[in-house]
Amino acid sequence: MNPITKKDIQNRDDIQIIVSKFYEKVRNDQDLGPIFNAIIDDWDSHIKRLVDFWETNLLFVQKFKGNPIKAHQEVDKKNNHKITNIHFGIWLRLWITTIDTQYEGTNATLAKDRARKIGTTLFIKIHKNRNLNSFSKQNDVKPQQ
Ligand code: HEM
Repeated sequence: MNPITKKDIQNRDDIQIIVSKFYEKVRNDQDLGPIFNAIIDDWDSHIKRLVDFWETNLLFVQKFKGNPIKAHQEVDKKNNHKITNIHFGIWLRLWITTIDTQYEGTNATLAKDRARKIGTTLFIKIHKNRNLNSFSKQNDVKPQQ
């Protein structure tokens, strides 16, 4: 037997490895790839941003300053409000399998659980934003005189 030894996520280097591998898969995915490639032109800075995000989330290093809810509402808008739970499902599958290939432990589990929770929140906020927009559009319609 040759057991594969896995370690836990311990530092920024580990996060950098995961985020880089994850986005390699995202960029090549037939459903997610076109969405990401159409919006992101500087991949190095996007990856750095996401490494900051996960370092803040998992290792409590205060680096990330952003607004993921607003960012994803914009992504949905740019895609004619066609982002679905399927996209989130693919995203999560790629994230979880990337982590599981090389890592296990408390932080590895936390990284997967946090992504599931954040994904749920983002999805709900995308939908709320769509409803708000259609509500205000309805209100914009002037009644016939
Ligand atoms: C499921 C969990 C997800 C997590 C945890 C997550 C996390 C993030 C974070 C932290 C950012 C940076 C936001 C900022 O700069 O303020 C980001 C950006 C982005 N996300 Fe996600 N995301 C998720 C799902 C998705 C999905 C399903 C899609 C597409 C269908 C997506 C598309 C994007 C794109 C295109 C950007 C770049 C936006 C820009 O720079 O204009 N994300 N994501």
